[in-house]
This record gives sequence, C-alpha cells and structure tokens, in this order.
Amino acid sequence: MSDVLVEVKDAIGIVTVNRPDKLNSLSSEVRRNLAEAFEKFDNDESIDVCILAGSKSKAFIAGADIKEFSKMKIKNKEEMEKDWRITTVLSNMSKPVIAMIDGFCLGGGLELAMSCDMRLASDSSKLGQPEINIGIIPGAGGTQRLTRLIGEGRAMEMILTGNMITASKAEQYGLVNAIYKSKELKEKTIELAKTISEKSQFAVKKAKVSVKATSEMNLQDGLSYEQERFVECFNSHDGKEGINAFIEKRKPNFKGK
Ligand code: COA
Repeated sequence: MSDVLVEVKDAIGIVTVNRPDKLNSLSSEVRRNLAEAFEKFDNDESIDVCILAGSKSKAFIAGADIKEFSKMKIKNKEEMEKDWRITTVLSNMSKPVIAMIDGFCLGGGLELAMSCDMRLASDSSKLGQPEINIGIIPGAGGTQRLTRLIGEGRAMEMILTGNMITASKAEQYGLVNAIYKSKELKEKTIELAKTISEKSQFAVKKAKVSVKATSEMNLQDGLSYEQERFVECFNSHDGKEGINAFIEKRKPNFKGK
C-alpha cells in the first residue's frame, strides 16, 4: 500500500497521507510523493478543488518523521528547500486546496496545512509547532505562515513553548475556518469543496491569486492587481454568462474560461 493515496470524485481530488502506524508523519519519500500527487492534480483539468487529508489514526499529520531526522543530513537551505518542495507546490497550486485536519496536526503537518488555502478540523484535533521541544525550529514555513495567520504574539507563544492548542482555540485564532465532529468532517469538507466547484473555475483561480497577493504586495499594488484580475473575469465567458444567468433567472452554465 502506498504511503500517499489519491482519489478523484466529482471534480474533487483528495490526497491522503497513509502512514497510520507512524501517525502519518512525513518521511522525505512521503513529502516527495505528496508534491508529485498535487502537481498531477493541478494539471488535471477534471479536478476543480483539492483536499489534503491524513489516513484514519490519532493524527492528521504528526510532523516530520523524527526517526528519519536522526539519520538525515541537511547541509544548507537549498537542500531544505528541495526536501520540503511540497510546501511550495501547495502554495503555488492554481486550484483551491483544503486541509482536512482530524487529530494531531503538528510541526510539518501544520506547515502543510498552512500552505493550503483553507483548513477545517475535527473538534478533538490538536495543533502545534513542537519543534522547539526537540531543539529545532519550524523550517517549512511555520514561523512565517503561522505569524501571518494568527499574529505575532500568538505565533510566538506557540513556537517558543511548543504547546499544542485545541481545535476550538485554533478556530478562535482563525487558524482553522471551522470545526466539526470527527464523523462529519469529511462530509463538511466535501460540501465546501463542492460549493467552490460549482462556481466559474476561471473566477475561482483569479480570486485565489488576488487574495494570495495580500501576503506578497503592498496595499496599492494589491488593489491594482485585483483590478486587473477583475477585468479579466468581467470580460470572460463565465463573467458574461453569470451576469446574464442572474438577469434571466436561471442557473449559469460556466465553462471555466
Ligand atoms: N515521527 C516519527 N514517528 C512518530 C512521530 C513523528 N513525528 N510522531 C509519532 N510517531 C510514532 C511514535 O514514535 C510511535 O511509534 P512506536 O509505536 O513505534 O513507538 C507512534 O507513532 C505512536 O506515537 P505515540 O507517541 O506513542 O502516541 P501518543 O498518543 O502517546 O502521542 C503525539 C502522540 C503526536 C503527541 C506524539 O507522538 C508526538 O509528540 N509526536 C511528535 C510530534 C512532533 O514533535 N512533531 C514535529 C516534528 S519536527
């Protein structure tokens, strides 16, 4: 059985880390396989929305494989970047990606979840950056993405103490969009994915890059970038179709262009 499973249904692609006996921790091979799976999904025109999940265990992803860490050599930043290419692949996906967090979401697991666009969690999940407990720090975006998502004081506390937070605190912090009972989580995640899948995928992609521009641009450049994307949507087939469908009181027939 592969350590990364893929499944496609109704324009939704699910990638699942499948190492339940190791709490879905991420070996370098898993990281590589995840990167390949998401790249394939991004190039697959039949898929609109992707989901990152962990196979059934106590954990969504319990971080990097610490046992493998003990044998690994990472000499420089370039090697680190290559080894954790999955975070770049996730954050560069043209399609929306939802992290479905059911259980421990720690270290590299939280870093992958934060590289996704949205996060839903089960109410019993625990989230944290515990690297400090083993004498290292987050190296796959944790200090940067967590701080942007929840603010410096909260990120600092989580990263310096290594303490986990509950799903309800994560929801309060805005780190996860919503929490559900574990048995409802998959259904709710698919529901969210389907809602997005029903829209114009041309507009979804333009909206996504525009929202993401906030972390790379100043306000003036971001506003200008948004206007350019708006004009592209306004003049697209789907923009015209959506507006006509509203006026004609019918469902739009979007074509993704
Ligand atoms: N890497 C490698 N193996 C891991 C792992 C990780 N990140 N997290 C858990 N495992 C393994 C354990 O070693 C154990 O294997 P074993 O049965 O062969 O001894 C198995 O998964 C079950 O974990 P265990 O610790 O017994 O479960 P628990 O319920 O007592 O605790 C955690 C769960 C998640 C709190 C605990 O496993 C933990 O702290 N994991 C490390 C998290 C971490 O620091 N991640 C960041 C890494 S940089």
